[in-house]
Amino acid sequence: MTTSSTALDPRTLRQAYGQFPSGVVAVAAEIDGERTGLAASTFVPVSLDPPLVSFCIQNTSATWPKLASAPRLGISALGADHTGAARSLGSRTGDRFAGLTTHTTAAGALFVEGAPAWLETSVHDTLEAGDHAIVLLRVHRLIIRPEVSPMVFHGSSFRGLAAVC
Ligand SMILES: Cc1cc2nc3c(=O)[nH]c(=O)nc-3n(C[C@H](O)[C@H](O)[C@H](O)COP(=O)(O)O)c2cc1C
Repeated sequence: MTTSSTALDPRTLRQAYGQFPSGVVAVAAEIDGERTGLAASTFVPVSLDPPLVSFCIQNTSATWPKLASAPRLGISALGADHTGAARSLGSRTGDRFAGLTTHTTAAGALFVEGAPAWLETSVHDTLEAGDHAIVLLRVHRLIIRPEVSPMVFHGSSFRGLAAVC
């Protein structure tokens, strides 16, 4: 069904934005011994020199103020097998890391095991953007595992990559 609309209400906008597939990342750090983080589908690579990436955080986030003051943030690109991790990291309540194997660096960046890529980052800048903020992160170190297939988030569903012939 085709929908044409000038109604820019949150539900319609969310539906429209959902037509643009994205990956899902875990943004996480160990803070005072506690694994702290959230899921984000708004990750975008930004710059090679200096190495910058970004994601958008809703202004109502209770977790972001804690993460924002951490010296290092781990960005894990979730893999096709990380559906459970994406759900629990994106949940509003409960232990977001229950059942997840994670790795914490000496600087406190926290990563999800088995991810296609890890970026160790720090907050470079934050820009106000309506009901969200755009967070620019500087990349300090990275690990790439090209053999691990990434997760694709589209229309509120988690998928894998499909081969097109
Ligand atoms: C697949 C998925 C993607 C999400 N992407 C974002 C995002 O890009 N930005 C954001 O602020 N919240 C996003 N969320 C919601 C957060 O993960 C989290 O639930 C939200 O920040 C509320 O928790 P908090 O108040 O503890 O921050 C996403 C959730 C899911 C399940």
